[in-house]
Amino acid sequence: MTARFTGKVVLITGGGTGIGRATALAFGREGATVMVSGRRAEPLAETVKLIEAEGGRADHATADVSRSADVERLVATTVARHGGLHVAFNNAGVLGAGPVPDLDEDTWNAMVGTNLTGVFLSMKHEIAHMRGNGGGTIVNTASNPVTAVPGLGAYAATKEAVVALTRAAARDAIGDGVRITAVAPGPVDAPMTFLPGEAPADRDARLAPHIPIGRVGGAAEIAAAVLWLASPESAFVVGHGLVIDGGVSA
Ligand SMILES: NC(=O)c1ccc[n+]([C@@H]2O[C@H](COP(=O)([O-])OP(=O)(O)OC[C@H]3O[C@@H](n4cnc5c(N)ncnc54)[C@H](OP(=O)(O)O)[C@@H]3O)[C@@H](O)[C@H]2O)c1
Repeated sequence: MTARFTGKVVLITGGGTGIGRATALAFGREGATVMVSGRRAEPLAETVKLIEAEGGRADHATADVSRSADVERLVATTVARHGGLHVAFNNAGVLGAGPVPDLDEDTWNAMVGTNLTGVFLSMKHEIAHMRGNGGGTIVNTASNPVTAVPGLGAYAATKEAVVALTRAAARDAIGDGVRITAVAPGPVDAPMTFLPGEAPADRDARLAPHIPIGRVGGAAEIAAAVLWLASPESAFVVGHGLVIDGGVSA
């Protein structure tokens, strides 16, 4: 087992489920102290338990990434409890569907608030700490670029905006030793890809025909990319959004 993150403190938003949990486990296996965050405490506590059961170090704190005060407190709590913040994975996201003409403003605002403002606020408060404390790496979660999917316009808009924001923020922060990138996953085995009440086999049968590789991705496959982007192995990668989608956007 390699331990690329021994002595590092890693903050993960949306760390209680799906891609966030898989990434938290992967960082835990590589020696990091992992702080997972989200709005609900229960899934976060479960992620911590899973990491600790493997001999890793983890902690959790609730925060809503769409609220600046929550995010500021989350970063401060992470630093106060664990002595620093070296890596952040800004992964919290929500999927709301509906054709643009029918989409209600509350759904639109909730998606922008979490998916875009949440990434902005997270980077803002993380960079504020990192730039005066030896730098760090930040990975944001966008989504794969696809031809417009009816009903997903608002979601796609927030995620394309995350790629643009990642590029701009990366240029703003690289001079201060903070290196920012993004992952842009395609359909991944995580709660977000299920229709209400859908069984895993039905979800797979619905999505697989639209994915050139013939299957949905594993959350651990996204985690592996996040760890690489967060590590010194990718030191010359700045502002890049890495598409990981089984060929959907190829
Ligand atoms: N699964 C896919 O196929 C796929 C593809 C492309 C991109 N993505 C992106 O990958 C990321 C992770 O999604 P997932 O697939 O792992 O689905 P997920 O299990 O639904 O994860 C989303 C996480 O975000 C947290 N969250 C939502 N709103 C939040 C807020 N306002 N503040 C803090 N935390 C919040 C949720 O926890 P709480 O509800 O407890 O807050 C949850 O843990 C998302 O950004 C998603 O858009 C997923």
